[in-house]
Amino acid sequence: MCRAFAMVDRAAIVTGASSGIGLAVARLLGEQGWGVTMAARRPEKLEAAHDELKGEGFDVQQVSGNLGAEEDIKRVVDAHRDAYGRCDLLMNNAGVGIGEPVGELTTKKVDLQIATNFRSIPLFYREAIDMLRAAGAEHSGALVVNTSSISGKRGEAWLSVYSATKHAVVGFTQAMNKELADDGIKSCALCPGFVDTPMTDFVKSVVPAEQMITTQDIAESVRFLLALSPGCVIPEIMFERPGGEMLNQASD
Ligand SMILES: NC(=O)c1ccc[n+]([C@@H]2O[C@H](COP(=O)([O-])OP(=O)(O)OC[C@H]3O[C@@H](n4cnc5c(N)ncnc54)[C@H](OP(=O)(O)O)[C@@H]3O)[C@@H](O)[C@H]2O)c1
Repeated sequence: MCRAFAMVDRAAIVTGASSGIGLAVARLLGEQGWGVTMAARRPEKLEAAHDELKGEGFDVQQVSGNLGAEEDIKRVVDAHRDAYGRCDLLMNNAGVGIGEPVGELTTKKVDLQIATNFRSIPLFYREAIDMLRAAGAEHSGALVVNTSSISGKRGEAWLSVYSATKHAVVGFTQAMNKELADDGIKSCALCPGFVDTPMTDFVKSVVPAEQMITTQDIAESVRFLLALSPGCVIPEIMFERPGGEMLNQASD
């Protein structure tokens, strides 16, 4: 069967693209002429973000779903394959952070964070590996960007499960750089401190939004990663505010 793919030179899947970091990266890619599948959980919020980028003239499509669920991950990747037929960048960015003291952990919230922040990532690689391999064979620059966190480098009290899922993201990213090196597929874990997005609203009375890392800072790192020569891999990037930061310090 002959499919009518959108005529783009480069295409990306960006999860968590309805706000914050994911939306900023989707916009940057749109500006560069990429075809972008935007995925996130709540359909209305995703539609608003999609319509915003579409209105700016970018080639985007939206697929809503719970990325903690395997069938929704498959649906996102299938829709992307149908629309664009290629995947040069997979950005695994959807995530959720839930603070709870260890003695009061709620099993449902533990599972939600593991499924969304970590389990979705290996499943996305698996589902998209054919397109990533094809892009790697074509230009040796297929890229997977996995959004971890500064708490994926240093565990945080109260955010213990979130921290553990983000450590897992860093470890999995390292493993992928070894496993997929010969396929022209690079992976990078982004490890930011506080970024000014809806996720950090809870802390903005202590750390003002204007003192946080911006979503543009993060998006620019993706532009940089895409510009690297085939012989250069950056396995992770830490982003900190001046002086460093820990949630515990912020809330002291
Ligand atoms: N902001 C920070 O300070 C910071 C620091 C370090 C790392 N991060 C990480 O950066 C990533 C993006 O977060 P953000 O700061 O940009 O926050 P955000 O604006 O709240 O964006 C989170 C995105 O993830 C989506 N999402 C959450 N759970 C999902 C699920 N189960 N299925 C599908 N989509 C889901 C959200 O969609 P809905 O809104 O519809 O749920 C939204 O699009 C996350 O992985 C987060 O852990 C953020």
